[in-house]
Amino acid sequence: MALLTWQEIHQMLDEAVARIRKDIDFEPEIGIILGTGLGSLVDGIEMVGTVGYETIPHFPVSTVESHAGRLLFGNLEGKKVVCMQGRFHYYEGYTMQQIAFPIRVMKKLGMKTLIVSNAAGGMNPNFKPGDIMLIKDHINFFPGNPLIGPNDNDWGDRFPDMYEVYNKGYQQIAKEVALEQNLRLQEGVYVGLTGPCLETAAEYRMLRGFGADAVGMSTVPEVITAHHQHNKILGFTIVTDMGLADNMHPCSLEDVIGTASKTEPKLRDLIAGCVKRM
Ligand code: HPA
Repeated sequence: MALLTWQEIHQMLDEAVARIRKDIDFEPEIGIILGTGLGSLVDGIEMVGTVGYETIPHFPVSTVESHAGRLLFGNLEGKKVVCMQGRFHYYEGYTMQQIAFPIRVMKKLGMKTLIVSNAAGGMNPNFKPGDIMLIKDHINFFPGNPLIGPNDNDWGDRFPDMYEVYNKGYQQIAKEVALEQNLRLQEGVYVGLTGPCLETAAEYRMLRGFGADAVGMSTVPEVITAHHQHNKILGFTIVTDMGLADNMHPCSLEDVIGTASKTEPKLRDLIAGCVKRM
């Protein structure tokens, strides 16, 4: 698909934002992306309103069954938030620019901070399924980048510096909140690649050798987009299964979603605790 110009992107953003504002007069400061099996993380949010993705001009529509498709606006721990209930994956066939679009819409709505969550395979042998990992850094293993194409220098830099993409202050907050909540919080590097197949033993070995602790099919494009537009970022991974090259087991989608759902209440409390202190 041809790359969009920024003139086109701005036009599309204006139309999407006008549609949302028609129903919701609300300026969220924090955006939250809910990953696989994590849709009910929103339970603790005092809801103000929702907007279905299918009603927003130019918004991609989620094709994965385990992902709902709406923006949910509300208050969490006294902060105004917008949640993406359902995200867009490269393996679904979206372009990187399409995956970037909702992140840019949230910025236009007022977002200053992005909190990302995902489900991923653990490669650090100290991890166990059901662990939560604080994302300290990432590796972009996608064959693309949402910033490829023309750049709008007023929106973000042509060559964004990737210094402290995951905000250090927020990481400190997350560790303190985890301690208070008696939660074992792992930390590590997330590597994002296309999927949709999981990795072979040889690939897990390679990715581990590259310095990654968890591997998944999302997050990196959204984080690059958010960083480009100067958002502060906090990210969490739920380790749903282990990808240990020398100890491979079959892994089903049911296992992944089951573990994500079981871990969800812990992640919900952790995110709420972090939001409170932001
Ligand atoms: N690999 C990639 N993505 C994943 C995995 C995995 O092992 N588990 C959950 N999402």
